[in-house]
Amino acid sequence: MNSRGIRVPKTEAEEVRRELLARGVFNSECRPVTDGEEVLFPITGRQPDMPYHQDTYDFPERKRDPSYPEIVKIPAELMEFLPSSFDTIGDVGIVKIPGELKDYREEICRAIREANHLRAVAVDAGVEGEFRIRSVVPCSGDSNLETMHREFGIKLLLDPSKVYFSPRLAGERRRVAYLVRKGEKICDMFAGVGPFGIMIAKHSEPEVIHAFDINPVAVEYMKRNIEMNRLKDGVMVPHLEDSTTGMGKYGSSDRIIMNLPHTAHDFLDTAVKHIAEGGTIHYYEILETERLEERLEELNGLVGMRSVEYREIKTYSPIMRFYGFDVRF
Ligand SMILES: C[S@@+](CC[C@H](N)C(=O)[O-])C[C@H]1O[C@@H](n2cnc3c(N)ncnc32)[C@H](O)[C@@H]1O
Repeated sequence: MNSRGIRVPKTEAEEVRRELLARGVFNSECRPVTDGEEVLFPITGRQPDMPYHQDTYDFPERKRDPSYPEIVKIPAELMEFLPSSFDTIGDVGIVKIPGELKDYREEICRAIREANHLRAVAVDAGVEGEFRIRSVVPCSGDSNLETMHREFGIKLLLDPSKVYFSPRLAGERRRVAYLVRKGEKICDMFAGVGPFGIMIAKHSEPEVIHAFDINPVAVEYMKRNIEMNRLKDGVMVPHLEDSTTGMGKYGSSDRIIMNLPHTAHDFLDTAVKHIAEGGTIHYYEILETERLEERLEELNGLVGMRSVEYREIKTYSPIMRFYGFDVRF
């Protein structure tokens, strides 16, 4: 049957499949097709921000497992409130459940777990605090949420109830990794369990990545992840330290990553002080759409900056978006 589809190298197929599922755009009526070294995935509409060729293809029809809304047992009048997507980190599902469905949390988590063959499903009550940890409550299956997540050839061990991690930034991390030139000095100011740095060290040849975090649990996972991914000795250096005081000890950086999207703005001056001439700051912020122009104006006015490009990476709320800005100096 004909469906819109996306053509992806085999090496990236698993991550893209997960991202399509997380966005709720995987066309589950069709089966993916392998074509040489590429996989064609069926999708339900045009995906403007995915860096893969898209077209209409003829896919085999799928005799498929039922999706979770087809097996969940809740009153018919509440079906319209069911979440259309959820995150998968390793073999753990994480779902936000709207207030209207609070009495059916366990049933919804069971249905998600069974339909998607997950080990555990937990409820996400939002990200909070200085360490940006999600309030994640195990709800169906195993209550141990530590899991091994894989994206674009890297492995990340983490417990999403103890550290921040978003699988939805996989594409952005890969994009940044491919921008890195040989011998760059990089600083990840808010590194968490290390996904940006590890992706960069795996796919490019930086001289060094200094990766800071103030959450001791995140830094412990980061150290284990550096080992597990067999990075070149000394290429990624984890620091359990506030980056605003730590980064000055290592000279200026060719690339600075600032993924602290609610408060990164408070740290922008520090980053600008430490960027080398010709360098790039990857600045992320969750902003109301109507404030985008104001922020672009501010970034365009930074001393020494040459250009600013931005992308809308994901939707945060009906009026807010997660934006990524590349500020070049
Ligand atoms: C949104 S998370 C991003 C983690 C990681 N970059 C990722 O993509 O998964 C932000 C991280 O910044 C850390 N953090 C907050 N303030 C910090 C500071 N002043 N210095 C270093 N790390 C900080 C938090 O503990 C948290 O792990």
